[in-house]
Amino acid sequence: MTKKILVTGGMGYIGSHTVVELLQHGYEVVIADNLCNANISVLECMSTITQKRPTFYNIDVCDKEALSYLFEKEKPLDAVIHFAAHKAVAESVQKPLKYFYNNILPLLNLLECMLVADCSNIVFSSSATVYGDPDGLPVKETTAFKKALSAYGSTKQIGEDMLEKTSAAENIKVISLRYFNPVGAHESALIGELPLGTPNNLMPYITQTAIGKIKQLTVYGNDYDTADGTCIRDYIHVVDLAKAHVKSCERMLEDKMESRYEVFNIGTGIGCSVLELINSFETENKVQLNYTIGPRRAGDAAAIYADVSKANTVLQWRAEKNIRDMVKDSWRWEMKLHNAIPQKTT
Ligand code: NAD
Ligand code: UD1
Repeated sequence: MTKKILVTGGMGYIGSHTVVELLQHGYEVVIADNLCNANISVLECMSTITQKRPTFYNIDVCDKEALSYLFEKEKPLDAVIHFAAHKAVAESVQKPLKYFYNNILPLLNLLECMLVADCSNIVFSSSATVYGDPDGLPVKETTAFKKALSAYGSTKQIGEDMLEKTSAAENIKVISLRYFNPVGAHESALIGELPLGTPNNLMPYITQTAIGKIKQLTVYGNDYDTADGTCIRDYIHVVDLAKAHVKSCERMLEDKMESRYEVFNIGTGIGCSVLELINSFETENKVQLNYTIGPRRAGDAAAIYADVSKANTVLQWRAEKNIRDMVKDSWRWEMKLHNAIPQKTT
């Protein structure tokens, strides 16, 4: 029988790519998204790619009544994938309560609705941010958390803790996926990350500089203790990341979990420096980037990359796309956006 998955935040960047993969793997998908960081046109784009249509509820997952109605209307739901959250780390430092509210309340509401509706499977969007600046590399799932440096980071640590404790006491199984640095876009260039003001993350900064929307990219420090002096991260293609969610659903629904609460690092396991990413972007896309070396950005770890052996062996998921795919797909998406909405230079 077709399995039905509720995807909160399914209109967003990672959510939309996951909805596409779920539909392509034969799942029925129900999306709950209030469009606070997404555009309704994404629905049409997902249908164009898959020739299938997810059911869409324009609701705020903070609204328990609306969520209960959805659970009642769509029963039985086999699993939930919970993406809906705010994600701007710097904003969360300025407005912590906005983040505690929107990133914690929906999880509480979901768990309560799941218990009432007898839906016992949930996949949670966690983040490498839970590790902070780690003492050893690569980071394993067993690496101890450091104190979170932002309210955003706290919400991911709290979310994992809520889920672990709930799974120990109730009939709820959980897979928390700790994403490293998601980049790229669907190869169709129909879905990708929508720009929201000046980007914070490196890849959108690179593509917006290349297209001329931003005049110059600043490399935040080249005096780190790394091979070329710039910071090292584990970039993961969003389509590979989306596929990890499909694997997680399969694992839960086929009763393959070894414990009721499981955690997986989702990255490539390969560290890539800022300069390496810039060089790959220039080489693969044959564009020159206007960049300069600037001072370090406060709070940046010199290097962080994942040990992905648990995801490879236990979840049986492995990243298939490399840095070349990531820079090419990111650039294709930026060019598509630029043609759709011509941008002003800042
Ligand atoms: P996104 O902003 O593109 O998607 C989030 C979606 O959730 C949006 O469509 C938004 O409209 C919706 N949403 C937010 N609050 C909602 C609410 N209260 N009710 C209903 N809908 C709501 O973000 P993303 O990059 O796709 O991230 C998805 C998840 O992955 C988030 O939980 C984020 O914290 C986590 N994550 C993201 C990254 C990253 O770099 N993108 C890294 C690690 C973890
Ligand atoms: C950020 C988030 C983290 C989140 C991750 C993935 C912070 C503090 N952390 O991590 O919670 O999980 O994104 O989305 O925001 N860089 C430049 N120039 C730029 C932009 C970035 O040199 O204009 C460098 C940074 O110094 C860093 C690397 O590029 O070394 C990657 O930065 P970024 O994309 O912001 O991701 P993270 O800092 O790893």
